[in-house]
Amino acid sequence: MKFFVDTANLREIQEAVELGVLDGVTTNPSLMAKEGIKGTDAVMRHYRQICEMVEGDVSAEVIATDFDGIIREGEALAELHPNIVVKVPMIRDGVKAIRYFADKGIKTNCTLIFTAGQALLAAKAGATYVSPFVGRLDDIGHDGLQLVQQIVDIFSNYGYPTQVLAASVRHVPHLIQCAELGADVVTCPLSVITGLLHHPLTDKGLATFLADHKRVNA
Ligand code: E4P
Repeated sequence: MKFFVDTANLREIQEAVELGVLDGVTTNPSLMAKEGIKGTDAVMRHYRQICEMVEGDVSAEVIATDFDGIIREGEALAELHPNIVVKVPMIRDGVKAIRYFADKGIKTNCTLIFTAGQALLAAKAGATYVSPFVGRLDDIGHDGLQLVQQIVDIFSNYGYPTQVLAASVRHVPHLIQCAELGADVVTCPLSVITGLLHHPLTDKGLATFLADHKRVNA
């Protein structure tokens, strides 16, 4: 399973790169706003910087919601760097744009997926990734992981090459369950990835090993 970090924060991206387990990055307009990145030039510069830091796909989201606007923005983003994946919302013109980009060999990530039907539509249009939002479904009392399971099953039934990118992954159990379900990718905050490091018995065991070593070698 690939690990993507869901952030536009360069320090966090660098930390994830240094950990040696990062396969890519996803961003969205809210994450860019959180970093105070505004204006087209600054946004483009920021995406280029991220691409130069990471060996792997970097999702950059379009703001336009009409076909021509999505194509214009998506083509400009794709020209920035070969690792750019154009992130397109699950709307009618988004689906049309995904087909257009697929025919041109431009990678896409269809975002804001909340049903298996939406994922199926995006896969048929030729999306490289679909992003079911696990945490946001949980937030409203639905089961986000069940959606991941449905999409994994459907894509495997028909051999769709579209990858299931579990998004809005909020904590370690989410990530582990996505792995059990066979999601191709998870994207999550860095804290969820580093959360995998910890177990109290690891800390306790290491403390004992070091204390015993010190006692004998003092
Ligand atoms: C996906 O690409 C989104 O950027 C993200 O995973 C949304 O996560 P959130 O629901 O925690 O904001």
